[in-house]
Amino acid sequence: MVYIGADYYPEHWERQRWSVDAELMQRAGIDVVRLAEFAWSKLEPEDGRYEFSWLDEAMSILDRKGIKVVLCTPTASPPAWLIQKHPDILPILRDGNRMSFGARRHYCITNKTYHYYSERIIRKLAEHYKNSSQVIGWQVDNEFGGPKCYCEGCRREFQRWLKSKYKSLDNLNRSWGNAFWSHDYTSWEQIPLPIVPSPNPAFDLDFRRFFSDMNLAYSNMQIRLLKSITPDKFVTHNFMGLFPHLNYYDLAKNYDFVSWDNYPQNLENRFRVALSHDVMRGLKKKNFWVMEQQCSYLTRQDITPTFSPGQMRLWTYHSFAHGAEAVVYFRWRACTFGIEQFHSGILQHDGTDRSISYKEATRISSEIHRIASQLEGSRLISPVAIIYDYDNIWANYAYQEKPMYDYPGEALRFYRAIKRLGINVDVVRPVDDLSKYRAVIAPLMYIVTEEAATNIRRYVEKGGTFIAGFRFGMKDENSNMVKTVLPGKLRDLFGIAIYAWDNLRERSVEVKDKEGESYQADTFADLITPEGAEIIAKYNSSWYSPYAAATVRSFGKGKAYYIGCGLSQGFYDKLMRKVLKGLEVEEIRCPDEVEIAIRQKEDKKLIFLMNFSDKSSEVSLSREYVDLITEKKLSGKVEVDPFGVMLLI
Ligand code: GLA
Ligand code: ZN
Repeated sequence: MVYIGADYYPEHWERQRWSVDAELMQRAGIDVVRLAEFAWSKLEPEDGRYEFSWLDEAMSILDRKGIKVVLCTPTASPPAWLIQKHPDILPILRDGNRMSFGARRHYCITNKTYHYYSERIIRKLAEHYKNSSQVIGWQVDNEFGGPKCYCEGCRREFQRWLKSKYKSLDNLNRSWGNAFWSHDYTSWEQIPLPIVPSPNPAFDLDFRRFFSDMNLAYSNMQIRLLKSITPDKFVTHNFMGLFPHLNYYDLAKNYDFVSWDNYPQNLENRFRVALSHDVMRGLKKKNFWVMEQQCSYLTRQDITPTFSPGQMRLWTYHSFAHGAEAVVYFRWRACTFGIEQFHSGILQHDGTDRSISYKEATRISSEIHRIASQLEGSRLISPVAIIYDYDNIWANYAYQEKPMYDYPGEALRFYRAIKRLGINVDVVRPVDDLSKYRAVIAPLMYIVTEEAATNIRRYVEKGGTFIAGFRFGMKDENSNMVKTVLPGKLRDLFGIAIYAWDNLRERSVEVKDKEGESYQADTFADLITPEGAEIIAKYNSSWYSPYAAATVRSFGKGKAYYIGCGLSQGFYDKLMRKVLKGLEVEEIRCPDEVEIAIRQKEDKKLIFLMNFSDKSSEVSLSREYVDLITEKKLSGKVEVDPFGVMLLI
């Protein structure tokens, strides 16, 4: 099923309004709403006293208009009575202060009392709605991920977690390198939480894994409970795209599918948003939902710009183009109160049908419902993959709050180049089956495990093209530096050695490729000594001059590239054009502002053309296509409207 939906909060409006909302939704073609993710105080106003009648009533009004429901467990926001009774549910922040009531996500993820109350309300809700065919599925909690808690309970949990991982203190001391600064532990109880601003990287990495695991445990508890009572309903959670603090592969595992909250904000973010979609699709190698899709301006620190007419539609198609099965807008109507009172909805505060977003939603849903059968069952097939790995994201944090380098930013250098060729990209783990990809790219892959090294080696031997970014293989699983010559375990694969490097934070350096084209190196420079590899680019500045900046080596039936520094975009464009030759969409030529993405059902391709500019764009088609949206035949030079979309078959 393909759905167009809205995040709806009947508890924010007078009861008399509910039927007006349902009527307007139906007219706009909204066929699903998400309900109740922050409604705990209305569902259980006092300890053990439940009030579901308001929700029953709101749902039956929606039901009369044929609108389905995704119901949420309301655990992202524990009510005041619960906090008053059990103040230890509130997390302790890193500064040692207890978070106070008054925002949301104010709970310690390991707190057993909280688990008890969560289970109780979830059980009640699930029992109450288990026979409702209107409820098609569940969203667990809302946007797991924060804040990290530093309470005594979490500290004890962390010690237990470490004990089960390392078994002995000797092992832990060695693995963490606790000889440094006299950090050896002689009892598990001595181990603190990483409150200091610059903890030992091994300690820091384990705490990140632990935090992720605790979220996972809480999430799995909810999934198990819901599945035991309502096995016929799907269970999902709203993920946050490139959010770095949870291992999303682990978190996604037990959900039926991934959903995510997509707030592109501005057009410049389009590749980052596209990559986010691909990361979300990569978590389960499966299409996903967008559970919150931006429909216009947002409240963040500031208020972001209002979408011009057409942008809401453009971003919606962009979601479908990357694998969305449903797009649910946040939110149905702008709220008059609360911290998000400056946040748009499909309807503005006035609740009339005159808003830009309402008109646009109406158009989108009529188009999408018309082409639903073509979308259903179609998937993205990608000939190239980017490795995206949480241990590596975390190993890149030198100090607690700030990563050293922009991990997705490094991926985006390659990603942009690939997307400009109109080629789909998958996002994978280092240990996934890589055999179906023409090329696999690994930006900022500090940690290369034995298993990953074997996987990559096998992939290249059998004919794959592997492309590593700078600092590949620098660290071990404990985030300690390796003792071998870089790039470590796969030195022979690349046919290079790296004995020297430099940080390019404050300056840039010239690099020239084999054809004499010049680029600027930035961010970091591995100074490469070839050992059998062919040089494809060299540094051309002062003492770097003897070294290579990028190399390639044939290995088995494949090739291994090493790109030793960050480079101007032209380098990646040229490299990817060469590596992916023959995979471009030959029949379509697009200017840069038009993105191509392809969904496919068996051999039938659906080609999305999306114009990310406020001017019309000329595209040239060297064969005849039909635009599914207008049902017109197209060929030769055609104009795509400002923010326009074409769906070609
Ligand atoms: C998040 C939350 C929503 C809302 C929006 C606002 O994604 O899940 O509840 O706060 O942001 O943009
Ligand atoms: Zn805690």
